[in-house]
Amino acid sequence: MRVVELFSGAGGMSLGLRQAGFDILRAYDAWPVAVENYNRNVGDHAVVADLKDLLSTVPDILKLAPEMICGGPPCQDYSSAGNRTEANNARLTLAFALIVATVRPQWFMMENVIGCAKSATWAEARAVLKRAGYGITENRINASRYGVPQSRRRLLVIGRIGERDDFLASSVAAAASAHPMTLRDLFGATVSAAIYFPATSEARRSVWSSDEPAPTIRERSIRPIPASYQPHPDDAAIIQNGFVYSRPVRAGRGVRSIDEPFPTVTRTSWERPGPKYLSAPHPADPLAASETAALSIAQASRIQGFPTWWTWHSSNQRDILQMIANAVPAPVATALGRVILDREAGRTAPAISGGFLQWLHKRGRSKASARNVKASAGRARRLLGGRTFDNLALEIAALECLPEFREMRKATQSDLRQAFRLLAEYETNRGQRRKRPLQNPEQPIARFEEAA
Ligand SMILES: C[S@@+](CC[C@H](N)C(=O)[O-])C[C@H]1O[C@@H](n2cnc3c(N)ncnc32)[C@H](O)[C@@H]1O
Repeated sequence: MRVVELFSGAGGMSLGLRQAGFDILRAYDAWPVAVENYNRNVGDHAVVADLKDLLSTVPDILKLAPEMICGGPPCQDYSSAGNRTEANNARLTLAFALIVATVRPQWFMMENVIGCAKSATWAEARAVLKRAGYGITENRINASRYGVPQSRRRLLVIGRIGERDDFLASSVAAAASAHPMTLRDLFGATVSAAIYFPATSEARRSVWSSDEPAPTIRERSIRPIPASYQPHPDDAAIIQNGFVYSRPVRAGRGVRSIDEPFPTVTRTSWERPGPKYLSAPHPADPLAASETAALSIAQASRIQGFPTWWTWHSSNQRDILQMIANAVPAPVATALGRVILDREAGRTAPAISGGFLQWLHKRGRSKASARNVKASAGRARRLLGGRTFDNLALEIAALECLPEFREMRKATQSDLRQAFRLLAEYETNRGQRRKRPLQNPEQPIARFEEAA
């Protein structure tokens, strides 16, 4: 799938999407330092551009005809670390929506802080995207469930032309790992810089970088790492110590065990505890902050999902930390990118909420009949390759065009149509109950139901 990225920073999101199989056509950012870092690490297609200037950028993007536009507009105005006044930075979320609405790719993906979901600017941007015909799924994710050892909570909005809202929510939830990734998972042997694949002959090597393709996996490749394996000396110090310090943004805990995810990486995450924290540590700290292992900038970069081969280019350390803290961790982008590609290829279909059965039951259906309706709706969705339609008439017409549908008995066809009608009524009612942000931006958007 051909992608254009807006507000691309140093390229965390692009890197992750490319690893999922996307083709990144061009990336735009106003900060020359970030663009240089992108071009040196991801590929030479990032350009410096002010995305407020729609007249300069939109014609350029239209020519590229991307199938997806993605990006993480600046978040300082919504961020819990900022002062939450919506100003110029927040307007860039609207610029993102205006560019998507004009170019109208099949898909878009936008990342921001959780606070963005309830903002007046997002309500305005969302209305633009709805008017342009997108079905929208708003996902509140925790990055530690999508491949990085970091409790980074973010809003990931995914849209596709013509879909019903929440069309991808169940697949995003299903892609989350059951357990959060911990620092030990990253710095320990399992996800270390080197992977042990016992060689079949002495002439071959046994240790492979985790950033290159593995050798052919054979039965005997699946072996525990030998006791003699030595982790990188920097990582070994952290593993041995067992605790790291992360400067808390608010009055949070500063000391973390390596058996838990790291808090959200910020520009100051790597700093040693100062006198202020040491004189008033958090009561729940499991170890004195002064005794914790120090995190290097390289390690902060890895906690944020940048691979070991990634190189940072700037004489200013603050710039490097800013680029690291800004990024969408590449593994998160990879995981969500795969969710998108799977749906695009018809490999997944939206789950139908258990609430549908209760709703049917309340409308007088027996339990068995309600189950049959739900099964028929699921079958119809799978026939459509997981595609939903905001417009019921189109949804039924799409079904009727399928050769498999035409070959069905008349009674089965009518069951499938009726199941779609009922499901559309149920999902529309549920959607209206859950979200009324367009008319009244002050009203909070209801929480995303994890297992919709
Ligand atoms: C949250 S960061 C995005 C990080 C990126 N998604 C990644 O994975 O590394 C926001 C980016 O927006 C850029 N930016 C801010 N104002 C801009 C503008 N007017 N036009 C283009 N980019 C802008 C910043 O330089 C910053 O790199």
